[in-house]
Amino acid sequence: MAGRFTFTLIKPGAVRNEYIGPILAMINDKKFHIVAMKYVWLTRNEAEKFYAVHKDKHFFNELIDFMTSGPIVAAILEKDNAVLDYRNLIGATDPNKAAEGTIRKLFAESMQRNAVHGSDSDETAIVECDFFFSMFERFTLQDLGK
Ligand code: RTP
Ligand code: MG
Repeated sequence: MAGRFTFTLIKPGAVRNEYIGPILAMINDKKFHIVAMKYVWLTRNEAEKFYAVHKDKHFFNELIDFMTSGPIVAAILEKDNAVLDYRNLIGATDPNKAAEGTIRKLFAESMQRNAVHGSDSDETAIVECDFFFSMFERFTLQDLGK
């Protein structure tokens, strides 16, 4: 069964362009519950750990430069089928290929400066949520009595 949680980052370009509010509004409109959220500026060491899966890719250094170029918003989102539904909401990695109405179509500047990150599987979502948040920082729908 697909899990109820996914992880997202609003990346530095989107933060710099003042898109935090519009992106959160789209997340809200699609009925994702915000379980946890923080506004942080990653160190190079932290960004390299978070993106360790890409360490052998040709774009790794550029990716780390960009992800440490300014603050980001990290969040855990809750909804049935969270990972897939959120990937559908954000659209393709390359904004030129992203569907109309998706977050990346609306707010990405390029393949690399593509506004947001979204977990690509339930397993990755767990690792990414744990990277940023302790259990004391999470408030699920169940915790709120919903
Ligand atoms: P994300 O992890 O950020 O949600 O993006 P994704 O799954 O759609 O794409 P992924 O393959 O995981 O790549 C991670 C991030 O690396 C940058 N990238 N640059 N220049 C390039 O060819 C290239 N390819 C990927 C993007 O910022 C992408 O989101
Ligand atoms: Mg990815």
